[in-house]
Amino acid sequence: MAATATARACANIAFIKYWGNLSCELRLPYNDSISMNLDGATSTTTVAWRDDLPTDVVVVDGVELDRSGTQRASEHLDRVRALAGLDARAEVRSVNTFPMGTGIASSASGFAALTVAATAAAGLSLSERELSSLARMGSGSAARSVPSGFVQWLAAPSHDDSFAYSIADPGHWDLRDVVAVVSRQHKVVGSSGGHAAADTSPYLGARLGELRTRLPAVRAALLDRDFAAFGPLLEEEALSLHAAALTSRPPILYWAPGTVALMRQAAEWRASGLPVYFTLDAGPNVHLVVEGIHATSLERELERLSCVEAALHCRPGGPAAVVPEALGGAG
Ligand code: PMV
Repeated sequence: MAATATARACANIAFIKYWGNLSCELRLPYNDSISMNLDGATSTTTVAWRDDLPTDVVVVDGVELDRSGTQRASEHLDRVRALAGLDARAEVRSVNTFPMGTGIASSASGFAALTVAATAAAGLSLSERELSSLARMGSGSAARSVPSGFVQWLAAPSHDDSFAYSIADPGHWDLRDVVAVVSRQHKVVGSSGGHAAADTSPYLGARLGELRTRLPAVRAALLDRDFAAFGPLLEEEALSLHAAALTSRPPILYWAPGTVALMRQAAEWRASGLPVYFTLDAGPNVHLVVEGIHATSLERELERLSCVEAALHCRPGGPAAVVPEALGGAG
């Protein structure tokens, strides 16, 4: 058995979002979601199974997590231990290419990379579908970071049937997600808390009804590379998720002043001939989506705005996969 393996996974941006669970324990979503992997926002994770460790050790970006920080990764490692019949503890080292906890989905790339590295190091050989379902248990959106490119995650009432699959390769459409960082503060409410609160929103049912038409429309526009149809749906969908968060009890407000400024700015850019649309995750930073030919103009515009601390430029990314290098110290 190879006791050590390293995997890399992309974060992803959802065009149709996951918000609310049929089962919080199994992270089974109410609705299908659709996303694009982000090649510029990755987690690279080395897992070494070791008989000499009394507890799992998790080091993220050079910082060893305390017991509560390690707990969620450890619970995920328990799932792998159960599948592989392993007793050993794991040393986990992970590095991210983006700031954590700011609405860029670090949990998605983190749990996808952890799933692929931990199972490979345990000698398990799982299908992409099995890896996606397993990653989902760590963080729902991690299910979508397992397959390549543009991805749909199926809502289903059972663990085995709720997995994500690729609907188009990364080369299908030269879309860019330029993530404008307007705040590096930690989220007010983590996404697990947001999903758990979703049921308290009187708007959630209406949102799920709207998705019956919005989801197929987004999927069709994506497959047709029809940006004029795609863009407005992105903004509708982002605002719908935040409407559910804002109407939860207690309400959750993820926005910072720069979030609102950029949402308004996107409309101004469009009026002046730059076709750009925003989307948001559960955080303040704004994902600005453009076709490749407009990415440089957008970046030039962002440089002029004082509310933007940094911009992270992402193209469609590939699947979560084992990579040859190991992160220093593990193994
Ligand atoms: O996978 P989680 O629990 O981090 O939830 C992700 C929630 C959103 O980012 C807001 C939406 C999504 O589908 O990615």
